[in-house]
Amino acid sequence: MKFFIDTANLAQIKEANELGVLDGVTTNPSLMAKEGIHGDAKVLQHYIDICNIVKGGDVSAEVIATDLQGMIAEGEKLAALHPQIVVKIPMTKDGVKALKYFSSKGIKTNCTLVFSPGQALLAAKAGATYVSPFIGRLDDVTFDGVDLIAQIVHIYRIYNYQTQVLAASIRHSMHIIRCAEAGADVATCPLNAITDLLKHPLTDIGLAKFLADHAANK
Ligand code: G3P
Repeated sequence: MKFFIDTANLAQIKEANELGVLDGVTTNPSLMAKEGIHGDAKVLQHYIDICNIVKGGDVSAEVIATDLQGMIAEGEKLAALHPQIVVKIPMTKDGVKALKYFSSKGIKTNCTLVFSPGQALLAAKAGATYVSPFIGRLDDVTFDGVDLIAQIVHIYRIYNYQTQVLAASIRHSMHIIRCAEAGADVATCPLNAITDLLKHPLTDIGLAKFLADHAANK
C-alpha cells in the first residue's frame, strides 16, 4: 500500500518524506486555506514546492471550477505545472466528463468526494487514476467508511479496473491498518496517523531493557 500525506503543510510533508515511506501528497482547497495559501500565483508555486519535496511522488492538486470547461482549463494549467501533478476532480456529472477528458489526454486524475460504490464505478469507467472515498466523513455519519473501501476494491478486482483506491479522510492509525486489510492501493493520512504506527509500549519497554542490560554489562 502506498502512503500519501494529506496536507499542504511543507514542514509536515518534509518530515514524512524524511521518514522514507512517503509516496505522494494530497491537498484540497480547505488544506490550502489552512496554510494561508491564496491567490493563483501562490497556490501554483506551493504545488511546485510540494513536488520538489516528494521527488517522483504523485501530488494531487484540486480544481476549483465546477463546470466542465472550467475544470478542463484549470486542470490543464495544473498538469502543465509539474510532471508529478495529479488533477483532482470532484465527483459530479461534469467531473465525470472531465475525468474522461483527462484520461484520454494521458493526464493523471484523482476523483474526490466519493461516498458510494456507484460513484466509484463511474470514476473507474471514466478512467480516473485514483478514486478517493472519504472514510472518516462516512464514520462521522455512522456508516463504516472502511466497508466502502472493501466494497470498491471488490468491484474493481472483478472487472480488473486500473483505477487505484485511495482511502482519504483518514483520521487515525487504525484506519490505515483497516484500509490495508481491505486492500486499498493508497492511504492518504495526516502526519500523526503515520507516525502513530511507530508506537508500541512493548517496543519502548524492550528497548529500555536492552539498553539497561548493555549498560550493566560493562
Ligand atoms: O483527503 C480528503 C481529506 O482531506 C478530508 O479529510 O478529515 O477533512 O474529512 P477530512
